[in-house]
Amino acid sequence: MKEILEELEQRRHQARLGGGQKRIDAQHAKGKLTARERIQVLLDPGSFEEYDMFVEHRCTDFGMDDKTYYGDGVVTGSGLINGRLVFVFSQDFTVFGGSLSETYGEKICKVMDMAVKAGAPMIGLNDSGGARIQEGVASLAGYGEVFQRNIEASGVIPQISVIMGPCAGGAVYSPAMTDFIFMVKNTSYMFVTGPDVVKTVTNEQVTQEELGGAITHTTKSSVADAAFDNDVEALMQVRRLVDFLPASNRERAPKLRPFDVANRPEPSLDNVVPSNPNKPYDMREVIEKVVDEGDFYEIQAAHAANILTGFARLDGQTVGIVANQPMVLAGCLDIDSSKKGARFVRFCDAFDIPIITFVDVPGFLPGTTQEYNGIIKHGAKLLFAYGEATVPKITVTTRKAYGGAYVVMSSKHLRGDLNYAWPTAQVAVMGAKGAVEILYRSERDDADKIAQRTDDYENHFANPFVAAKRGFIDEVIMPHNTRPRLIRGLKALAKKRVETPWKKHNNLPL
Ligand code: HXC
Repeated sequence: MKEILEELEQRRHQARLGGGQKRIDAQHAKGKLTARERIQVLLDPGSFEEYDMFVEHRCTDFGMDDKTYYGDGVVTGSGLINGRLVFVFSQDFTVFGGSLSETYGEKICKVMDMAVKAGAPMIGLNDSGGARIQEGVASLAGYGEVFQRNIEASGVIPQISVIMGPCAGGAVYSPAMTDFIFMVKNTSYMFVTGPDVVKTVTNEQVTQEELGGAITHTTKSSVADAAFDNDVEALMQVRRLVDFLPASNRERAPKLRPFDVANRPEPSLDNVVPSNPNKPYDMREVIEKVVDEGDFYEIQAAHAANILTGFARLDGQTVGIVANQPMVLAGCLDIDSSKKGARFVRFCDAFDIPIITFVDVPGFLPGTTQEYNGIIKHGAKLLFAYGEATVPKITVTTRKAYGGAYVVMSSKHLRGDLNYAWPTAQVAVMGAKGAVEILYRSERDDADKIAQRTDDYENHFANPFVAAKRGFIDEVIMPHNTRPRLIRGLKALAKKRVETPWKKHNNLPL
């Protein structure tokens, strides 16, 4: 018996070495952790349960029959993050460059299936040269099976991808279909075709980092949600993110015991909005002053900064926050911010996370760039996302809520459950200057008259009471009481249920 046990230990030792010490050293030399080290950082100590440690590829072409490694280049299993179950795969670059074989694909599919059955998040750590070239279509089929599972799991369990090395070609589409993508700066990249092909086809000269690095994807393309300096930081942030999320669409996000006081007033909020309506202020500050312990976990912070999206807690309960940011483009909606907001709202709705919306929006961004690139279609995404969301929706209008953007931003008309306004709110078709220019064009050279007209318009519309009179604003609240109001509102909506007519699925403008 002792020999049998020793043999198992010996095999385990062999499997843990992946592609061997030399390749592990090379991985470290690039500033990267190995697949197993990453799992150790990601999961609670000692919680990793590995599956399929002894799987080997079945390829016999190109001299592959005598080149096998236990595990075949991907480490899979389950474990805990702060005591909660997650499933994980971690691609091992030391084995055939982490390339995906038929059996490797089967290993990933097995844990994905388990994650869906168990109702637990799926986390993929990506570091791979793509399809295993020696296996041809068998490898492509493996990707196809993973893709199909990504699609089926979407909206059922949270799916999180961390890009920690190469991720190129069609392989990018598995992470692309997950809910969140984190990247590591300088050591990871994602592109459909690499710099060499780009040079040949378009004659553009571009580095890997410029084409598909973490900064590119978190600022320009918005493919990724956050960029981190190294593997450890990225993995620690996945742990933080998972804490905010429910295990699946069958459960609520965990309620943590807050250190913050539920009915804490925040007097400084009474002075946040400047008296000059054209002066910006930082909406992030408003959010941080309202939520538990000032902890706002931003998603896509580096992209479309005119809208803020992220998770926070109110009295221990996870909420999704969407907010116009007056500091950037005066907080107006454009293509990028509409898409960013819409995706976030849809995630929250799929996973039963209440949405809190802070509104200060002067309208949609004008211009040919916006129109030619489809602001109509993309703006409709945010509108559609809010209107279809059936989770509790609470809106706080802090200042401007103008025109179509007023309706889009979780208004009463899109079934906002509680629509609060600060006394500084202004709900109107547009600002005073624009309105007077249109309504009194013939008087435009008479400065006194225009000033009088502007005053009249402001007196009439530059307040929340016209909307409150019609019940479109449920209550005008003191800014300092925003936190207790939101918490009481969430309690009132805790058991919200909405019946919608049967349909196969909607036709969200894509
Ligand atoms: C088999 C691969 C491999 C692959 C790398 N290796 N990629 N083996 N299939 N796709 C092996 C190498 O032979 C080498 O083996 C080891 O992994 C490390 O590779 P290096 O080239 O030495 O590493 P590095 O210099 O860091 O370069 C990494 C790399 C490069 C940029 C990823 O290896 C590369 O360009 N690989 C090919 C990428 C590619 O074209 N893949 C197909 C994309 S299309 P040894 O034994 O020397 O250690 C695709 C389609 C998916 O993926 C479709 C889904 C529908």
